[in-house]
Amino acid sequence: MINKGKILVTGGTGYIGSHTCVELIEQGYEVLIIDNLSNSESFIIDRIEEISGVRPKFYQFDLLEADKVDTFFDENKNLKGIIHFAASKAVGESVKEPLKYYQNNLMGMVNLLEGMKLYGVKNIVFSSSCTVYGQPDSLPVNESAPVKPAESPYGYTKQVNENILKDTVAAVDHIRGIALRYFNPIGAHASGLIGELPKGVPANLMPFITQTAYGLREQLSVFGDDYETPDGSCIRDYIHVVDLAKAHIIAIERLVDGKNTDGYEVFNIGTGNGFSVLEVIKSFEKTTGIKLNYKVAPRRAGDIVQIWADTKIGNEVLGWKAEKTLDEMTSSAWTWEKNYRESASQ
Ligand code: UD1
Repeated sequence: MINKGKILVTGGTGYIGSHTCVELIEQGYEVLIIDNLSNSESFIIDRIEEISGVRPKFYQFDLLEADKVDTFFDENKNLKGIIHFAASKAVGESVKEPLKYYQNNLMGMVNLLEGMKLYGVKNIVFSSSCTVYGQPDSLPVNESAPVKPAESPYGYTKQVNENILKDTVAAVDHIRGIALRYFNPIGAHASGLIGELPKGVPANLMPFITQTAYGLREQLSVFGDDYETPDGSCIRDYIHVVDLAKAHIIAIERLVDGKNTDGYEVFNIGTGNGFSVLEVIKSFEKTTGIKLNYKVAPRRAGDIVQIWADTKIGNEVLGWKAEKTLDEMTSSAWTWEKNYRESASQ
């Protein structure tokens, strides 16, 4: 089997990280994972192996443990690149525990970049978010739209980490980086073996839908149907997690191949299509044949009304394009939820 080199995936047992590990292995990369398992499960490593046929090397520690990060780099001198997912991601929690978010998300990034600087690692892809745009002034939103004041400490850490990366790339000759601004990742791997697995009550739409359909939640609340949108519910650019995972491979290869002449680049990763909450529910009901128990509830504080991506630069410069439909996203999310619950109850 070809070996295209070693890639470190931080947060590799998480939702997007695990899908990215599978794609990397299938493309011939040797995958190393650092994860503290704070918001994921170790069986995901087994599942990655089951899908791809290769078991990634797993290091369980926290990126805040600078000595362990240093030892990791010392032991793995020939890394081709890093894909950095490890971070806390619950918006509501970040408002209650801002210091946890500033510690985890900012210091984790700093420790990683320190290691790259010291050990001569060149390439890093950072997992950013369309949350940096807030409610954009015009749609679709492109990469040069202004970054708006953050709505939460979580959102602020994405903005600051982009700047930390940009400044480091400018200052350290050998480091090059790409920030990918994800829109709303949903769906799961076609095998149904990995998918989104939030701890506790899901804050995001898709896992709330699948858990309600499975009977774990009584009812889904649609947060507002009186917005200035065609059906009154909020609009997002939902992107299949496998499409998103593939964008990371293209981004890391762009860095490895020295194609990003600017040193630091930012790309939107979305489909370019906006769908409303009610349209997502309709797609779910259509693809699964399940009638979802939902009600319209008051607006959720801090929600933006609508956003979808301008994908031109991602398509033309990065050379990546989303391929999967909303129906494939909702049906795969359901297959995963069902498989997971059934295997967990055995
Ligand atoms: C949220 C975060 C965003 C973060 C992203 C990570 C907020 C305000 N924003 O984005 O910063 O980057 O998650 O995935 O939390 N909805 C319902 N009922 C529900 C849950 C959601 O109607 O039970 C609606 C929301 O109002 C929204 C849409 O579904 O219109 C998507 O919500 P969600 O999945 O939470 O994503 P975002 O709010 O876009």
